[in-house]
Amino acid sequence: MPVEFLGIAATNDGSETTVRSGLAFDKEYTLKLARAHEDHGWDRVLFAYGSGSPDPAPAAAYIATKLEKLQLLLAHRPNVSYPTFAAKTFATLDQISEGRLTVHFITGGNDHEQGREGDTLGKDERYARTEEYIRVVKKIWTTREPFDHEGEYYRFHDFVSDVFPHQQPRPGVSFGGSSPAAYRAGGAEADIYCLWGEPLDRTAEQIEAVRAAAAAAGRTEVPRFQVAFRPIIAPTEELAWEKAHRTLGAIRARQGRGEHPSPRHHDRPAPENTGSQRLVAIAEAGERYDRALWTATAAATRGAGNSNALVGTPETVAQALLDYYDLGIEILSARGYDLVDDAIDFGRYVIPIVREEVAKRDAARAADGGRTLAAVR
Ligand SMILES: Cc1cc2nc3c(=O)[nH]c(=O)nc-3n(C[C@H](O)[C@H](O)[C@H](O)COP(=O)(O)O)c2cc1C
Repeated sequence: MPVEFLGIAATNDGSETTVRSGLAFDKEYTLKLARAHEDHGWDRVLFAYGSGSPDPAPAAAYIATKLEKLQLLLAHRPNVSYPTFAAKTFATLDQISEGRLTVHFITGGNDHEQGREGDTLGKDERYARTEEYIRVVKKIWTTREPFDHEGEYYRFHDFVSDVFPHQQPRPGVSFGGSSPAAYRAGGAEADIYCLWGEPLDRTAEQIEAVRAAAAAAGRTEVPRFQVAFRPIIAPTEELAWEKAHRTLGAIRARQGRGEHPSPRHHDRPAPENTGSQRLVAIAEAGERYDRALWTATAAATRGAGNSNALVGTPETVAQALLDYYDLGIEILSARGYDLVDDAIDFGRYVIPIVREEVAKRDAARAADGGRTLAAVR
């Protein structure tokens, strides 16, 4: 099974350790970071969404016109748009990028952050709305005749789009969330189900929960899985751990100065979303798991999204990622703290090892008719 690498398409150089040096939308930096990914073996980058952040859709369109191969994962919150409108934006962007778009539908894990853009629904209802929204968007992408929709959250009549995606039948649908309502909605509609990096046994639990939800929704095809980490690599284990502690120190120093890199994550004492609560509980139960997982960065940021680190040499981190591949994860997502340099280092030193080992596993599996993989899983 192929492996893919997802990086980050930030629009400025700020991170948990670094104060941004310019505007929130820094056009040159956005391109420089995306190019670093394209030039160093990454497949796709995530354009994230936050209430006050630059709009990721035109940022993704800009990158699509500048770069040839890099695929785009566009985060989108249903509450900010009507699905007829969003479906056309996505189809246009898929045309601009000649089929490089995947849409990451975000339900939103924090009531206050959702309220900033007028969303008053509670989280479980938000998931029900996201599910209907995705179904409508898929239908618009693939329907050539005008149709009516009478749903719980959306009602419209006689709509047909005049712009269709480049990809046929449609772009991929990506989805994240770790609550039962998330598993239900994503299990029913997602092509890619995204998880934040947790220890291997907890990741296996989540994969099972999503697979069960997909089966309960009557699907025969299960979503592909993605898992996200913050790798901290250096030429020796000792140097990598020194770097890890320096990184933690820099995160704490920023917090000590009262600086919050993202209002989406850092303005609440305890996270409301299940995914972040899980990260906090895992960090409280232990600082190190498995081969290289380090939870101190997640503890320091109260499980702010992708926040668990993998620490070690490129070889150690690659082997740790392969452990997730062996669990059934096909997409590995990674983001450093110094975004450009870390994207280059990870692309140079980690991605080639993982791809080579995956090719060996796939060849062994092909040679014995699938029994090897069945044995590892
Ligand atoms: C890989 C990944 C990327 C995400 N990106 C964003 C984002 O850009 N903006 C955002 O508001 N939420 C983002 N989320 C949050 C989730 O989509 C979800 O709304 C939230 O975590 C609620 O989760 P819960 O079901 O665990 O409570 C992301 C989640 C994952 C797993």
